[in-house]
Amino acid sequence: MALPTSRRSNRIARLTQSFIRSMTRECERVGGINLGQGVCDLPTPPAILAASVQAIEEDISTYSKYEGVDALRERIAAKAASFNGLVNVDADTDITVSIGSTGAFNCVLQGLFNPGDRIIVFEPYYGYHVNTMVTAGIEPTFVTLPPPDWPLTRDNLESMIDERVRGILVNTPANPSGKVFSRTELQVIAELCVKHDLLAITDEIYEYITYEAPHISLASLPGMWERTVTISGFSKTFSITGWRLGYAIAPPHLSEAIGLVNDLLYICAPTPLQVGLAHGMATLEHTYYRQMAESYRSKRDLICSTLSDIGLTPCVPNGSYYVLADITPLGLSDDREAAMHILEEVGVASVPGRSFFASDTGRGLVRFCFAKAHGVLEEACARLQGLTLED
Ligand SMILES: Cc1ncc(COP(=O)(O)O)c(C=O)c1O
Repeated sequence: MALPTSRRSNRIARLTQSFIRSMTRECERVGGINLGQGVCDLPTPPAILAASVQAIEEDISTYSKYEGVDALRERIAAKAASFNGLVNVDADTDITVSIGSTGAFNCVLQGLFNPGDRIIVFEPYYGYHVNTMVTAGIEPTFVTLPPPDWPLTRDNLESMIDERVRGILVNTPANPSGKVFSRTELQVIAELCVKHDLLAITDEIYEYITYEAPHISLASLPGMWERTVTISGFSKTFSITGWRLGYAIAPPHLSEAIGLVNDLLYICAPTPLQVGLAHGMATLEHTYYRQMAESYRSKRDLICSTLSDIGLTPCVPNGSYYVLADITPLGLSDDREAAMHILEEVGVASVPGRSFFASDTGRGLVRFCFAKAHGVLEEACARLQGLTLED
């Protein structure tokens, strides 16, 4: 009998297991501190935990509407108006609550794009974006933003738009670069979306984690509401990555298709957690969001000053909780060797830069995630201080 061979659909033929997973395994093997994987291990606000426990105890256990429970959609609409400047969001027709922002993104691709379509992706990129597109038969068209400040220019972007490009994806604040798109840059994107009749998709999951300039939602710019899907979620803001709650906001002519796919793929997001989140969020003070950003800012400052001290110059992030650092002073051949060397020499895991680039730019970079308890980050930074560089 023939030995079983591993089997894969054509759809996933180009997918590979990410280096983030293998670095996590290596990190566990050497008992290191994991600044590789982007899992924030900070506590969830107690009010959200309590309200969710209550929802479970009240046995709110059946499917919700496919677009999400009313109370949560109303809370999202209110937040979209007060925080994102999207003042006309109708909770009944414009919001789909999904299985994390990841679920929402998948519904947007399946509901609004066809195999063979192209979507502009800025690199460095978040790997799930690219892999989800590839699995849907959509081709990413990469526009490279250069380190350390990742500026976007009109020429750079427009030169990559051809007749097969149907959309532009904007992740702001971005993983892994920490770039927060400026109003001027968003205006360029908006103008080109209108000129070439493109849809915009945003991923704003780190919207509350900004350090210098405020977060701006592309859909709030003139002419963009009609052609933008705004995706966000709760994983990062409330440290509930495992609850799988996120959403897409879009006008009804786009939301209808997104909701249809959400129903088909997931039926709904977990009902008691939606209810608990809606009630818990209602009790949080505004200061919660400010304090969270402040806490990440002090962690950013700590890791960036450590990296500068030891000569691995950081591309200082303006938002999110990742930092890309230049590993060329280590004198090693590439990013993978550098990440393994740092782990083996001082016991700190990072992610090789090529995980975030289609081009070779990532060869000279590794990414550290600083969403860690303060003591853990301090220990990681103390260890990094012990790294030896080539003379
Ligand atoms: C840019 C970006 N989008 C989305 C996600 C995942 O979000 P969710 O938990 O809402 O699916 C992550 C997680 O690391 C991310 O970095």
